[in-house]
Amino acid sequence: MFPTARLWAQNWVKIAPRVITALHIVYLCHLSSILVATTRSACILISAFGKSIIDQLQNLQLLPAGVKCIAPKMERFVAETDAYRTRSVHDLITLKGKTAVITGGGRGLGLAIARGCAELGANIAVLDVLEHSDDVTKLEEGTGIKTKYYRVDVTQKKSLESTFEDIKNHFGSIDCLVTAAGVGTGGPFVDNSMDQINRIISINVTGTILCSQLAVQQMLKQGTGGAIVTISSIGGHGGIVGQKNAVYCASKGAILGFTKSLAVELAESGIRVNSISPGFFLTKMTPGYQAQDVALLEAFEKPIPMKRFADRSEIKSIAAFLLTEASSYITGEDIAVDGGILAA
Ligand SMILES: NC(=O)c1ccc[n+]([C@@H]2O[C@H](COP(=O)([O-])OP(=O)(O)OC[C@H]3O[C@@H](n4cnc5c(N)ncnc54)[C@H](O)[C@@H]3O)[C@@H](O)[C@H]2O)c1
Repeated sequence: MFPTARLWAQNWVKIAPRVITALHIVYLCHLSSILVATTRSACILISAFGKSIIDQLQNLQLLPAGVKCIAPKMERFVAETDAYRTRSVHDLITLKGKTAVITGGGRGLGLAIARGCAELGANIAVLDVLEHSDDVTKLEEGTGIKTKYYRVDVTQKKSLESTFEDIKNHFGSIDCLVTAAGVGTGGPFVDNSMDQINRIISINVTGTILCSQLAVQQMLKQGTGGAIVTISSIGGHGGIVGQKNAVYCASKGAILGFTKSLAVELAESGIRVNSISPGFFLTKMTPGYQAQDVALLEAFEKPIPMKRFADRSEIKSIAAFLLTEASSYITGEDIAVDGGILAA
């Protein structure tokens, strides 16, 4: 017994410093909230300075040489870089060299948005059912960009496929999409016919989905990200006093859900998806505008906190901003351009 105990004591004296050092290191690890995960065959230390700890344990031959350290790459987490000084706002707000596809860009809000994109240097492909739109060609004047007008119905998948193929071949890329093609309704809900309901849902919802899908397929192939802006409405957030348009509001609510979900799905691929909810703009779609129904227009104006209708120039800048790098950390967001209606 006695010689064995002596042998044990001698060995202990030899290994004691190593054990104490190891315990000390483990204690330090614990103190600095370092995760020590041990399995029978491997030990993984995760810490900012885990590698040096593993090196020390291996030097002491307390860990097999094969044990590796998985330490987080701190270099990725750089706080307060100088990028805010080198990336100027002027540099970020540009669409130079990009191709923007604008559905419903033949007139109204879509045309204004196409103008905004052209002013920032994007080449413009407009998709609309109108026979032609001289205004689209006029976008080239003073901007030096290229435009092409496609007469196509956003509910027709086959025609859309060949249109997007042509856009890609003609312009070389598809980087931005704005889905402004849309229709409204009127009349009491109980009287809405199946045709009316189908038309609104297919143009406002299915049209947006089909165009987004074709654009995203191309953006993913290009691998350089992209930006999509869908057009919802304040009606997508709730009912509008004085308007009987439940189906229209349903279609615009669907756009909000679609936009958020798609934004999350595509976030890692660098494709951002946001929506705009316009309030009241006087366009051919606005009920009562073409018929010059002053009483109706005044009724619409009343609940607007800013007490006026919006101008199309007030949406083009927001859409253009959402398409540029100036909004590079914004996705799944909805911006109401409504004079304060949704805030009231
Ligand atoms: N004007 C407003 O106050 C207002 C408010 C909220 C939301 N919006 C939305 O903004 C978008 C643009 O509306 P707007 O006021 O410019 O209306 P608008 O009628 O002036 O423009 C809509 C455009 O979409 C096109 N279009 C319609 N059906 C199409 C189809 N099947 N395929 C391709 N193009 C088609 C039309 O030809 C037209 O050029 C719509 O989605 C609308 O719901 C408008």
